[in-house]
Amino acid sequence: MTEQEREIAHWTSTPIEEFIRSQEKTEPLVAALLPVHGDSIGIKRPRVLDLGSGDGTLALRVARTLPKAGKVVCVDVDQGRLDFIQSAADSEGVKIETMLGDGRQLPDVGRLNAAFSTIVFQHLPLSAVVSYITAVASHLKQGGVFRFQFIATGAVDRPSGFLAHFHPKDEIINACESAKLTVEVCETGVGHALWTWITARKRR
Ligand SMILES: C[S@@+](CC[C@H](N)C(=O)[O-])C[C@H]1O[C@@H](n2cnc3c(N)ncnc32)[C@H](O)[C@@H]1O
Repeated sequence: MTEQEREIAHWTSTPIEEFIRSQEKTEPLVAALLPVHGDSIGIKRPRVLDLGSGDGTLALRVARTLPKAGKVVCVDVDQGRLDFIQSAADSEGVKIETMLGDGRQLPDVGRLNAAFSTIVFQHLPLSAVVSYITAVASHLKQGGVFRFQFIATGAVDRPSGFLAHFHPKDEIINACESAKLTVEVCETGVGHALWTWITARKRR
């Protein structure tokens, strides 16, 4: 089994119940995503990506704030989780589209106004994170924002291993810059003491 296959097996075998997080944990994340909400508000038909959407709590929260014609696109490696999110969205009447992202390959998510990813990049090796940053950037419209979270190397004295990948801040910033994403914010300690957040905007 390759590392990528082991990763997918890990996520697809974890019951959804383990991902349904408490309000207490969700609120700081929602607050940390406010730049994405804010950016999407003035747009008529915003299309927002949630990369590695898990139980969809955040995707649903963002979807509720969008104009009627707006949509959140959820990508995950686990079809079961995506089905769970779709039925929650359908019964509530919020617009969510789900797409299976099999491993590191981003499916065709269309032209995006904004994108976010939380508690995903800390579980992926640097090469996968860099390819996701590049792929998301290629789908973002000019001026669109990508807000994502990772754990920076040195944030905690723990060796990197399977599903615990910490990344050098500089390399992540370089990956953004190479993908024509201008890093506007790089902050640590929002939502969780160890987490680093980047807000990067697509330039021409
Ligand atoms: C810890 S959960 C976080 C879920 C959600 N983003 C949140 O903040 O609650 C990690 C999610 O990332 C998904 N995932 C893991 N590797 C992925 C990959 N390579 N591509 C897309 N999604 C992935 C998992 O299936 C899981 O749903």
